Amino acid sequence: MTKTVCIKTYGCQMNLYDSERMADVLAPLGFVCTDDAETADLVILNTCHIREKAAEKVYSELGRLKPLKTRPREQGSTVPLIAVAGCVAQAEGGEIFRRAPQVDMVFGPQNYHRLPEMVARASRAAGLVLETEFPTEPKFDHLPHSREGCAGPSRYLAVQEGCDKFCTFCVVPYTRGAEYARPAGDVVEEAGRFADAGACEITLLGQNVNAYCGVAPDGSAWRLSRLIEEVAEIPGVGRIRYTTSHPTDMTDDLIAAHARVEKLMPYLHLPVQTGSNRVLAAMNRRHTIEDYRSIINRLRAARPDIALSSDFIVGFPGETEGDFRATLDLVDAVGFAQAYSFKYSARPGTPASLEPQVDEAVKADRLHRLQARLDEHQLSFNRRCEGRILPVLFETRGRRPGQLVGKSPYMQAVHADAPETNLGTIQPVHIVAGYANSLAGAMDERCVA
Ligand code: SAH
Ligand code: SF4
Ligand code: F3S
Repeated sequence: MTKTVCIKTYGCQMNLYDSERMADVLAPLGFVCTDDAETADLVILNTCHIREKAAEKVYSELGRLKPLKTRPREQGSTVPLIAVAGCVAQAEGGEIFRRAPQVDMVFGPQNYHRLPEMVARASRAAGLVLETEFPTEPKFDHLPHSREGCAGPSRYLAVQEGCDKFCTFCVVPYTRGAEYARPAGDVVEEAGRFADAGACEITLLGQNVNAYCGVAPDGSAWRLSRLIEEVAEIPGVGRIRYTTSHPTDMTDDLIAAHARVEKLMPYLHLPVQTGSNRVLAAMNRRHTIEDYRSIINRLRAARPDIALSSDFIVGFPGETEGDFRATLDLVDAVGFAQAYSFKYSARPGTPASLEPQVDEAVKADRLHRLQARLDEHQLSFNRRCEGRILPVLFETRGRRPGQLVGKSPYMQAVHADAPETNLGTIQPVHIVAGYANSLAGAMDERCVA
């Protein structure tokens, strides 16, 4: 009999990838995906613990799901199993059952391959299921091959998981565990399957993706640069990206790959967090602003049109107005094409949470000022694309009939009126306008067949 599973995903791309894998593991048990939690037999919240707000979202969602457990049984209505997966599950474990007794299962990111067994245990009403161990055998070895069919032209492929950096603000080393790199042969094989199923763009994923060093088929070790070169050889793969990178792992061979590998897109998300050396040191980021600027210079020498993106944290414990101004100066000096910025959020168990905190109003003011500055740079980057012809990978239909939405090499969303047959293909598009968050394009007449 067919059963349905509703998987709600929060947080980063790694969670999106994991949610797809959970659906793959459940498919042989007869589970079909649905967006409707009301009618689902199993609801999984794949959660994020990175900031307090992200973690609290889970409890409000669990509050909304609670009535499903107690509603009177009408004909056909099911009482779903409710599961909390992901980084909140890993961080809070059994505490979740105490705060939300409607939850049946809690399991961390390293246990997804054991879902069938966990679902069986929970359905037998054998009590609560809690799995937050870091098993010695890597989960990737036990996950089934991804099912194709419904997959789009741009796919994420996890190559590395976990983090050994221990930035003093961050929960990831605790929720995802130590760095682990998948064997290179497995990655290339999976990329090949994605390409066979119509994927044109592959984004190699990892919490510290540029620290990748995996066992190669010949027993040697491949760094990320070599992996990129091998994936670029796969027919059908038109574009390669990788995320997220740490500045200290931005090695010369990887920078050189940006010059050598044409399919490697001229866009890099390289989080710097702050423009102050003092704050960088307190964050345990292991590099200086001078190091970061030197990496950017070398990247630009290798690939002059490379667009840069970053994450920023404002209001880290001890951050002064002077430190914050140094962040604004760095933003102006680099000219980021895009960026994400956050107020520092104290996370339980991390060293920075124990330090005296910056006032909330000061944090809010700095975030506002930083975002205004980042927006200026983003708009100016988008405007500078006006008049250019950019290759766009069309991924979805737009809101207006006849319109498609795609991505430029620089990760900008591009809207253009284009035939449906262009979906899943890379087409030259004439950029007619650059806005705050997107570009408007017209199909280039010289190129339309
Ligand atoms: N591995 C990546 C980022 C992982 S988390 C890296 O090393 O950069 C994504 C972003 O969330 C971080 O870059 C940081 O800017 C932000 N972040 C992490 N912990 C945070 C916290 N406690 N408060 C606010 N922002 C945080
Ligand atoms: Fe977190 Fe730092 Fe690791 Fe990134 S490098 S995941 S910010 S600890
Ligand atoms: Fe969040 Fe975990 Fe990703 S904390 S950002 S879901 S690694």
